[in-house]
Amino acid sequence: MPEFFINGHPVKAEKDQTVLQAALANGFFIPNFCWHPALSVAGNCRICVVEVVGDGGGWLDIACNMPVSEGMQVLTESEKVRARRKATMQFITLNHPVDCGICDKSGECTLQDYHFQYNGAPSTSTDPKVRSTKFHPLSERIVLDNERCILCSRCVRFTREISKTNALGIKQRGDTSLVRTTEDGALDADPYSDNVIDICPVGALLGRSFLHKARVWYLESTASVCPGCERGCTVKIWHRKPEWHLKSLDARQNTSIARVTPLENPAVNGPWICNKGRDLARIFERPRAEAAMLRGSFVALADAIDAAKRLVAHAKRPVALVSSWGSNEELAAFKRFLGARFSVFVKQDCVPEPGECVQDDLLIRPDKNPNGAAARALFGDASAVFDDATDLLLIWGEGFDFARIPARARTIFLNAYLQPENGYADVFLPISIQTERSGHYTNFEGTVSAFKACFPKKSSVADAEALFAALAPAVAHA
Ligand code: SF4
Ligand code: SF4
Ligand code: FES
Repeated sequence: MPEFFINGHPVKAEKDQTVLQAALANGFFIPNFCWHPALSVAGNCRICVVEVVGDGGGWLDIACNMPVSEGMQVLTESEKVRARRKATMQFITLNHPVDCGICDKSGECTLQDYHFQYNGAPSTSTDPKVRSTKFHPLSERIVLDNERCILCSRCVRFTREISKTNALGIKQRGDTSLVRTTEDGALDADPYSDNVIDICPVGALLGRSFLHKARVWYLESTASVCPGCERGCTVKIWHRKPEWHLKSLDARQNTSIARVTPLENPAVNGPWICNKGRDLARIFERPRAEAAMLRGSFVALADAIDAAKRLVAHAKRPVALVSSWGSNEELAAFKRFLGARFSVFVKQDCVPEPGECVQDDLLIRPDKNPNGAAARALFGDASAVFDDATDLLLIWGEGFDFARIPARARTIFLNAYLQPENGYADVFLPISIQTERSGHYTNFEGTVSAFKACFPKKSSVADAEALFAALAPAVAHA
């Protein structure tokens, strides 16, 4: 474990750490554009320059590619360093359009931050800026603004080293250099492509789904878990801050997902998520079921719960199919309050969609449900058994074919979304979705991750956990 000195302070580095890694790990800031902790070192932006004190006045070198050596002395904010960083910033912004006012990255752009910190001066160049391609479609999901690109190559290295599609490269030389895709559509086929939007240090790579949708300072994020597969990647769900809620414009935006980004988690997904995780709005913002029903007729939620209680109380051979999208807390509540009353089987709510990547070596798992592991740990993994003697079927969640319901069986159906089956159930109970409640999922490796509520649920909709407790007296009287 070599010891060296940053700005005169002794610092212990891990074996093989670079000066940049050791500095960041010990609370010393060194700016960086092209370096990324999960990618190889490219060393092309030169902003991470530091001064190494030595004979003859020392020298300047980039910290991201400099291994720590015993006793070395490094200065991160000397006059020489600041002057070099200023020159580097002037070079990087030489042809940059500085169109921050219309750029989605504004507010979270390192180019803005470093310009403010290290340069802060207008361009000294009297030559016109080199114009380049704006809003170039890289894929169906991503557009590229080449004028904003600083050619750090993070996006290129991501597709080479992480997603391994080799979908991106840099072509041509000098001020005509351009990031471009391969012509075989590899970026469209890359299920992890949108990670390049996050790691682009400037506003060059833009997601079409978020393009000009919101300024980031109007948004806040809530920690959540992607339910798209049994990996259970941790994510940030971004939505409008309460103080920026819209009143007269489109108020639906107040309870809409603006975007989803990874919540870095070394135990589950590292710094990445797949594109399905970015598209959680497609899952959660489907038309919702918001009213309880008795055989297709709307009733108050309390009346539907009473009817469900009666069915549970009088059934002789009740079977329950529990949801593998239920949280740990909801599954435990089901077991506690209703588990002894029913023959319980775990239901797969979702299966891979046509064209969806089923499995790979990075994150994506074949089971497209977030909590199957926890459900099977509580209720076993036997296939569902029900027959003509089954007189009550409680179906919790999506994915069950109603044509399989035995002729004599009455049905209680718990579902969050508007679907034709809702009206066929004897009792239909609308339930909340993940973004309206807090809880935990246990992924296929046994790692438990928490999600929190982003939006309030409607009063006509039940929380499954409370619902199972409300049905408990039916067990007592059964
Ligand atoms: S598009 Fe972004 S990540 Fe890619 S090289 Fe340009 S600045 Fe870097
Ligand atoms: S790998 Fe699975 S859990 Fe992770 S973001 Fe993709 S779908 Fe969601
Ligand atoms: S971060 Fe070191 S050269 Fe770019």
